[in-house]
Amino acid sequence: MTDELDRVRDHYRATGLTDRLKNALAVFGPEQQRLKPEQLATLDQFHTRGLAATAELANLAAINAGMSVLDVGSGVGGPARFLAETYGCTMIGVDLSEPFVEAARYLTTRTGQDAKVSFEAGSALALPFEDSRFDAALLQHVAMNIADRPLLYREIRRVLKPGGKFATFDVVLNGGDPLYPVPWAKTLGESFLLTADATCEAIEAAGFGTLVRRDDTAAAKAWFAELRAAGPPSLNLGVVMGQGFAEFATNLGRNLMEGRLGILTAVFEAVPVN
Ligand SMILES: C[S@@+](CC[C@H](N)C(=O)[O-])C[C@H]1O[C@@H](n2cnc3c(N)ncnc32)[C@H](O)[C@@H]1O
Repeated sequence: MTDELDRVRDHYRATGLTDRLKNALAVFGPEQQRLKPEQLATLDQFHTRGLAATAELANLAAINAGMSVLDVGSGVGGPARFLAETYGCTMIGVDLSEPFVEAARYLTTRTGQDAKVSFEAGSALALPFEDSRFDAALLQHVAMNIADRPLLYREIRRVLKPGGKFATFDVVLNGGDPLYPVPWAKTLGESFLLTADATCEAIEAAGFGTLVRRDDTAAAKAWFAELRAAGPPSLNLGVVMGQGFAEFATNLGRNLMEGRLGILTAVFEAVPVN
């Protein structure tokens, strides 16, 4: 385990997370009551623009029922549950944080999706899957925690079938030094941002061709402005990340508004290797 991975794992340590979720979800009724994935959306979509961003990305990647899809850095599993429910695909999530994986499994049992959605603890830099296993892979707000981008994208390419889709939605460097703490990092020590151009170059160098590339910074800024005006929903990512989360989110909004950071949406196709 490298120092970098240890620091990232520490950031997402989330002690007692599953119990906090159990308590927070009592607002929906007793423990045995089945929940709908959408009911969890304000606390289980751990990225800018929440569920709307996941839905758009899945649509761009043309996810369908026959697919086996990997969510790399799956967090507490919201994107995986939403895709399985919406498209009928089979989902596997992998995440560095064991408390997140435990919480993702708990929430998936609460939504009754264990047959279609599962999670494993592991690193995106050494994915615990055989070559050419998946039809598509998702990476949402994860790459900024990973220094070794060539290895990250090679691993994703390795586990995809030739022609498989890779859909990414990530924070990128734009025009200045970001303010910390932010949702993925308390300090620069856990944050490894690249520009949109450098991100796409690294992905293509790992054996992908670009299908879609979009700058979604304006949509993210509008979303943060709405959030600021309306105030956070009562169930929010503070349940997952603790009280500091409000400051993390405010700083991300400011970094976007001040042009320090941007948001990249892109979909790639795994180029067949000879
Ligand atoms: C901001 S959260 C996003 C979670 C999820 N993709 C979502 O959008 O809801 C970042 C996630 O990436 C995971 N992560 C960071 N570095 C990782 C790595 N090297 N391998 C696997 N997961 C990693 C973290 O544990 C965390 O769950």
